[in-house]
Amino acid sequence: MGNIFFAILCLLYIGVENVNAQVPKTYKNGIVVSAHPEASKAGLQILKAGGNAVDAAVAVQFALAVVLPSAGNIGGGGFLVYRSASGKTNTLDYREKAPGAASRNMYLDSNGNAITEKSLYGHLAAGVPGTVDGMINTHLKYGKLKWKQIMQPAIELAEKGFAITEAQAGELNKNRDAFEKYNPSGFALIKDELWNAGDQLIQPELAHTLKLIRDKDRAGFYEGETAALIISEMKRGGGLITKKDLAAYRSVWRKPIVGKYKDFKIITMPPPSSGGIALMQLLHSAEPFPVKRWGFNADSTVQLIVEAERRVYADRSVYLGDPDFYSVPQEQLLSLAYQMGRMRDFQWNRTSVSTDIKEGNITDRESEETTHYSIADSYGNSVSVTTTLNGAYGSKTAVKEAGFLLNNEMDDFSVKPGSPNMYGLIGGEANAIEPGKRMLSSMTPTIIERNGKLFMVVGTPGGSTIITSVFQTILNVIEFSKPIQEAVTVPRFHHQWLPDEVFLETDALTEKTKNILIQKGYKLTPRGPIGRVDAILKTNSGYQGGADPRGDDTSLGY
Ligand code: GLY
Repeated sequence: MGNIFFAILCLLYIGVENVNAQVPKTYKNGIVVSAHPEASKAGLQILKAGGNAVDAAVAVQFALAVVLPSAGNIGGGGFLVYRSASGKTNTLDYREKAPGAASRNMYLDSNGNAITEKSLYGHLAAGVPGTVDGMINTHLKYGKLKWKQIMQPAIELAEKGFAITEAQAGELNKNRDAFEKYNPSGFALIKDELWNAGDQLIQPELAHTLKLIRDKDRAGFYEGETAALIISEMKRGGGLITKKDLAAYRSVWRKPIVGKYKDFKIITMPPPSSGGIALMQLLHSAEPFPVKRWGFNADSTVQLIVEAERRVYADRSVYLGDPDFYSVPQEQLLSLAYQMGRMRDFQWNRTSVSTDIKEGNITDRESEETTHYSIADSYGNSVSVTTTLNGAYGSKTAVKEAGFLLNNEMDDFSVKPGSPNMYGLIGGEANAIEPGKRMLSSMTPTIIERNGKLFMVVGTPGGSTIITSVFQTILNVIEFSKPIQEAVTVPRFHHQWLPDEVFLETDALTEKTKNILIQKGYKLTPRGPIGRVDAILKTNSGYQGGADPRGDDTSLGY
């Protein structure tokens, strides 16, 4: 009896220890979770100076352009989801656009085959950048501090330099050959020796461009000196972006997708991201099932999620594209009844087969780079932002004298409708290339409310895996009651219709669960990290951050 009592005490103690180990710091006033410590510091500095979440977001976006050149950017684009302290919501689309001279078959050879090199690398891969207009637009509408003040941290980081992390040194060295190929006269990220952790990266050209943006707003980027440098770079490498394309670029406020999961309100990104609709479809697929009882990554949970993903990604390939060019059947895709109909034909005793699954009755190559930041302030406002150059370091091509890299977002179009892209996603007509159109994205910046109050801010990079990573992190919090850091840290898995495989991070599933799924016919494929989720949970005592340990991600608050 004594022994049993002792064992129970030990178990209780271990339980308490484990819980305590997972309880993150709680901040009463504000929090920034981003992919780089220096960017989180820049955001925190702005919050502490009395700025709101939008001011901090602008500071973080520009800081990431300096300290995370693989994905942070001024030469790319992104999506922002905003929620005010009083619960008003909005989303900003600052996605890149196809240049005016772009055309449907621009990446096909004379036999109609895709020339991957052209849509992925070099000048032709770049869409018209949206980030600078997006930040100006956001600040004009919701900012509190002066534009000049919020630009300053990024300018200082570019001018004075910062120490690169070990992971960054590795990435820069890995990309060296590509940088040299596409930038024969060099640029800030190429140096004579290899990069080492702790090396200072100083970017005077980028600092100069940021100062032009600070002093001239839009005209500092879309006109004058910077625009001229972009155009001359396009001429050097046969790119399509013109003076007219730059002058015409405008980010757009779009009505958020607002959905329900149990007693939670989900506020997320509408098209041209597929992320918001797909996230709601996944949540609708899960809602009728007792996933909480089944448990985290139990075989039934995994099977349900995989079968939901199979069907949702099939729909994505056909029905989603830029809403300014294509009529997305949003209402139907978002209806609970539609999704339950989609799930009706799956059987628990065996896997479905993706080639048997077509879109419901009524995708494209995506890189896993990109970056996400989540911010909440002392006033109660929050923002969720995912921003990208598409691939790591975008097109690998810099506008050298302006100090920034161009995106390779054109590759997110269906380069050849109907054919799988580099990541196996199938693209449809809805996402075919047209001049001035925005390419389909998977970015899923999301904010969640409960009982009219802020509950969670979440998002991630990861190309096609973005949607599943956001979905699984939400289930980890809502269904499996995981503290936010643990919800972000635990291993993930992914299925995207085609290829018909379940991709697993290390230790995502137990051997027993794997065997059950293999017996039912699922093909399990191990792979590297899935996503880099940066999230915030609002508790009664304040904000808690979940910064993904898969990267250099950092949560800072006060
Ligand atoms: N380029 C990644 C995405 O937009 O989803």
